[in-house]
Amino acid sequence: MILSHQLFLVVACFVQACFSLMTPSDFERINGMLAPEAYSSTSVPFPAWLAQLANRTDWPAAKPPFIQTPGLDINSGIPSNPLHSLRLDQDMACFSQCSFDCNNCLGPNDIAACPQLLQTFDDGPTAATPALLDYLRQKRQLTSFFIIGTQVLSFPDTLRAERRAGHFIGSHTWTHPYLPSLSNQDIAAELQWTTWVINVTAGVVPRYFRPPYGGLDDRVRAIAERMGLTPIVWAHDTNDWQMVGGTRTENQTLADVQSWINASSTGIMLEHDQAPITVNTGMKIRDMVGAQMYVAPACKSLTAPWYN
Ligand SMILES: *[C@@H]1O[C@H](CO)[C@@H](O)[C@H](O)[C@H]1NC(C)=O
Ligand SMILES: *[C@@H]1O[C@H](CO)[C@@H](O)[C@H](O)[C@H]1NC(C)=O
Ligand SMILES: *[C@@H]1O[C@H](CO)[C@@H](O)[C@H](O)[C@H]1NC(C)=O
Ligand SMILES: *[C@@H]1O[C@H](CO)[C@@H](O)[C@H](O)[C@H]1NC(C)=O
Ligand SMILES: [Zn+2]
Repeated sequence: MILSHQLFLVVACFVQACFSLMTPSDFERINGMLAPEAYSSTSVPFPAWLAQLANRTDWPAAKPPFIQTPGLDINSGIPSNPLHSLRLDQDMACFSQCSFDCNNCLGPNDIAACPQLLQTFDDGPTAATPALLDYLRQKRQLTSFFIIGTQVLSFPDTLRAERRAGHFIGSHTWTHPYLPSLSNQDIAAELQWTTWVINVTAGVVPRYFRPPYGGLDDRVRAIAERMGLTPIVWAHDTNDWQMVGGTRTENQTLADVQSWINASSTGIMLEHDQAPITVNTGMKIRDMVGAQMYVAPACKSLTAPWYN
């Protein structure tokens, strides 16, 4: 079973990621021989096509403006779910919806389950990410990264290195807001600018996104779908980020993972490449779970394309 999964993953790589987007670095990836990269930061250009589309010449800072692009409609036919703020446990506006974070409700296209247990890393790229990339390269392991747009402006070469190494790259919004609290336009802006910076930096247009805090309801789903993005959430939360503030120990995190392994649990695990401590724990989790891990879109279908 495991062997056939591995075989399928290799075949899937050849069919969709490799044949359709073959570059010299893809050959390196297939051979597991990616050369070490310099991770020094260089700036992200603002290309002419984007300047024309957005009628500006720089990347937005905190609050990205919505850009009306040809053919994009984020109003008609979008559910008018009431806006609500982050994790208000008594907030019926949250609980009355098919909300992932409020009541663990998955939409028909949401990806959380998987035939196996696997890692995913959110909130990068950061200064901590290159150590993880180096480790994964040694282990010849592909993984999944959900990228914050503004982080790309600080660490563009790290995103490029993720792409060159063949890892899966998804969107994690521009500024990491709780999407159900935003207007349709602001949700769309958070997603469109992230798609653009990933495209400009890494040369791929993401097809999947992970909502920050798992904030996902039918309004967010519908807007994301109009923008070509399918949600990937999780089945197991490692709560690794709590180690950064010291309210959780690595042993607690690893014990949770061990209990999922003991129970033969499957599904996507949530981790973060936000800090050295979460990255170090992520390396240990990789060794516990083993080498056969999918990248996240493979949970739905081994031949699902990763990018548009
Ligand atoms: C483009 O932006 C400039 C100001 O930066 C504004 O004067 C102009 O009306 C805008 N054009 C369009 C088509 O929105
Ligand atoms: C991606 O970038 C290419 C240029 O490299 C551009 O032609 C295309 O419109 C971009 N697509 C998106 C969705 O950003
Ligand atoms: C964590 O677990 C390891 C191995 O099981 C053990 O040696 C170590 O003492 C534990 N650390 C803490 C702080 O509990
Ligand atoms: C996992 O199983 C091993 C072997 O049965 C056991 O020693 C260990 O305590 C279990 N760990 C957890 C966290 O359930
Ligand atoms: Zn996040």
